[in-house]
Amino acid sequence: MVPFHSLHAILLASLSLLPILSVLAAKEVFAHVILGNTASLQASDWESDIALAQNASIDGFVLNVGFGDPNNDASLSRAFEAADKASNFSLFFSFDYLALGPWPKQDVINLLTEFGSRPSYFKQDGNKPVASTFEGPANAQDWVDIKAQTNCFFIPDWSSVPPTEAVSAAGGVADGLFNFNAWPVGATNITTDSDNDFLTALGEKKYMMPVSPWFYTALPGLNKNWMWRGDNLWEDRWQQVLEVQPEFVQILTWNDYGESHYIGPVRELPAQQLMHAGGAPVDYVTGLEHDGWRKLLPFYIGLYKSAAAPAVEESVVAYYRTNPGTACSSGGTTGNNPAFGQTELPPDQMVEDSVFFTALLNSPADDVQVSIGGNKDAQTAEFLSKPQSEGAGIYTGKVAFAGRTGEVIVSVLRGGSVVAEAKGGKEISGDCAAVNWNAVAISS
Ligand SMILES: *[C@@H]1O[C@H](CO)[C@@H](O)[C@H](O)[C@H]1NC(C)=O
Ligand SMILES: *[C@@H]1O[C@H](CO)[C@@H](O)[C@H](O)[C@H]1NC(C)=O
Repeated sequence: MVPFHSLHAILLASLSLLPILSVLAAKEVFAHVILGNTASLQASDWESDIALAQNASIDGFVLNVGFGDPNNDASLSRAFEAADKASNFSLFFSFDYLALGPWPKQDVINLLTEFGSRPSYFKQDGNKPVASTFEGPANAQDWVDIKAQTNCFFIPDWSSVPPTEAVSAAGGVADGLFNFNAWPVGATNITTDSDNDFLTALGEKKYMMPVSPWFYTALPGLNKNWMWRGDNLWEDRWQQVLEVQPEFVQILTWNDYGESHYIGPVRELPAQQLMHAGGAPVDYVTGLEHDGWRKLLPFYIGLYKSAAAPAVEESVVAYYRTNPGTACSSGGTTGNNPAFGQTELPPDQMVEDSVFFTALLNSPADDVQVSIGGNKDAQTAEFLSKPQSEGAGIYTGKVAFAGRTGEVIVSVLRGGSVVAEAKGGKEISGDCAAVNWNAVAISS
């Protein structure tokens, strides 16, 4: 059977601080890796993924590990081999209590004991290996002993219970909390309300804030077939990270193909295995690269960590779905998840048929053009949001498909020349068996 996640989670990892810096707030950004989707990766693939993540200013991977997956040992061995070789890249575990059932206490202790002292294992407060979970609040009491025996620093995701309850569980065993609420419900923009609930409940304990670009899953064989709104989400959420200034950020995710929020490269084998095992109405991952979503991370993460805008080349990112929302059957996909008590909406009423674009510029551009299917002239666009000074910073906008299909090219011009152009993603097409609600993300 192919391991999968009923939700995804992520994580970030980070570096161990020099003792002299330990009084300063360490800010770290991790990306959540579903270990169950990495069985076919060689150590060299892990090295390549780590290089891509480091190039995007990501400090480490949170390894979501399902209990009893027969591939765990080999996958962990390759992951740690690659991470130990890399300079300042960290790994830590998120024990998944849902995907394959709750973890027995002793197995958690064994894994933390085996890997917690590896050079790349993320530590806090000097030498405490960090451990997280995906759910498992009913097993909170186990962690009293796990902490006593492993000296771990514990930041679970227990988002299924209110943060006040998670903070006080098992006598306050958690040293911090990760929040899995990374998507807005309905046709709305995400807010920081959930983050504020966590911060209030946490007091002095650490907060790990979730950031995700998208959510769509259509694996009816695994009882999953819904989407949440990703329009503007990546930009909005990074702006919220800059406001909230959490101790940690965890990107959801690096490789969760089943829920369409991967920002790492598509690995076709695990993606197609998932599509097959879950009875997906269409293969909604192959060919839908998300690499563009990494492009502006050095800028956002640099600002988050230092408050001073880092020097980054001018660039443009664009993302869009590859089918108009009413082009064919919805594939049984609902907007929102009624099983979570959310109001079900037709997905095409939750999201726009638009190309969303974000440019990082040193000074205002003269023009931005969005071409769909080659008829460029009709598509001069404008930036709808700009930096306050209208100088250096993030500019965003969108252009409706308006019935057009074909290749998407987004070009930013100044003084008559192109300063940044995004193209090369899968084309928009009305030819479909079921609408693919996943997106393509491209960049210059
Ligand atoms: C690393 O990031 C920079 C800046 O975004 C980019 O220009 C470069 O191509 C990237 N290199 C790799 C190997 O991804
Ligand atoms: C979301 O925010 C954008 C501005 O960033 C605004 O134009 C849009 O109307 C908002 N959408 C909803 C559904 O509130």
